[in-house]
Amino acid sequence: AHSAFSTKICRYGTESLREAALLIRAGEPVAVPTETVYGLAADATDSNAVAAIYSAKGRPSFNPLIVHVADRAMAEGLAHFSPHAEKLAEYFWPGALTLVLPVREDSGLSPLVTAGLPTVAIRLPAHPAMRALIRESGRPLAAPSANRSGSISPTRAEHVLASLNGKIRMILDEGPTSEGVESTIVAPETDRIRLLRPGPVTAAMLEEASGLPVIAGGINAQIEAPGQMESHYAPSKPVRLHALKAEKNEFLIGFGLMPCNFNLSPDADLREAAANLFAALHLADASAANNIAVAPVPEEGIGIAINDRLRRAAA
Ligand code: TXA
Ligand code: MG
Repeated sequence: AHSAFSTKICRYGTESLREAALLIRAGEPVAVPTETVYGLAADATDSNAVAAIYSAKGRPSFNPLIVHVADRAMAEGLAHFSPHAEKLAEYFWPGALTLVLPVREDSGLSPLVTAGLPTVAIRLPAHPAMRALIRESGRPLAAPSANRSGSISPTRAEHVLASLNGKIRMILDEGPTSEGVESTIVAPETDRIRLLRPGPVTAAMLEEASGLPVIAGGINAQIEAPGQMESHYAPSKPVRLHALKAEKNEFLIGFGLMPCNFNLSPDADLREAAANLFAALHLADASAANNIAVAPVPEEGIGIAINDRLRRAAA
């Protein structure tokens, strides 16, 4: 397919921020960093703008988007907060937690954002670039990860360019993201918290903050988090998990001290490994090797989110 736009990468600053906000107000999606991954942001109240996100990503329209807000007041205008939801927001916002809440009838959100669900996913991010863009454009911003649907998530501006070149006008570049995996998604219920996607905010952190039990997944996880489909984050090459050494023609992604092509964290630090995860998959995908192998990562803390993404990459 030919390119409709030339995509430019702009270092985040006063000028580029103003230009990005003008694009947003004109209904154009813009790629912008958050502390988790780069997002492809557009005005969540404008159906044409939201449709442009789905089209640039090649994303199926039954998969709803997260709405990003600059403050609590903006969030309360979009969704109904139960006392448990208030408590979680108080504890973890700004940060890598997305709350799935009943959408307000007068939210003003495009129905494309929620894909017809009675709930909306909301996040108040910590990253200054995303927060400044929401403020400067004066709109809540719908933003999925800034990559073609189903492919590896972007943690650097170059990853966005490699995936969406010619499909969007502008990428705001503020260097590599700090968390490296997408936000934790939860749906607070009457007496428990449903964990729809593991992420930087762990189940243990949620239990400690809320005093409520955390249960994983939905009764029907496909409906509760439609984007949590089996194959996702997929490189173009086969991925083998729990590898202790590289076979012939494999690019080995290591963890802890071991011979490998790229090490997620030689010190076996899970936070560092999360921050490096998608960059490692991008490197392995672009390498000369035919296959990708990944060393075992402990199933604890943010390691649970890492393993969730790796299982989908291998599916
Ligand atoms: O860290 C993140 O969350 C990043 C950055 C850009 O904020 N965004 C992100 O968006 O990961 P995306 O679109 O790649 O993932 C959003 C997930 C999908 O799995 C979607 O199905 C789910 O959120 N989701 C959105 N609205 C929902 C809803 N009302 N109920 C359940 N799941 C929902
Ligand atoms: Mg995504």
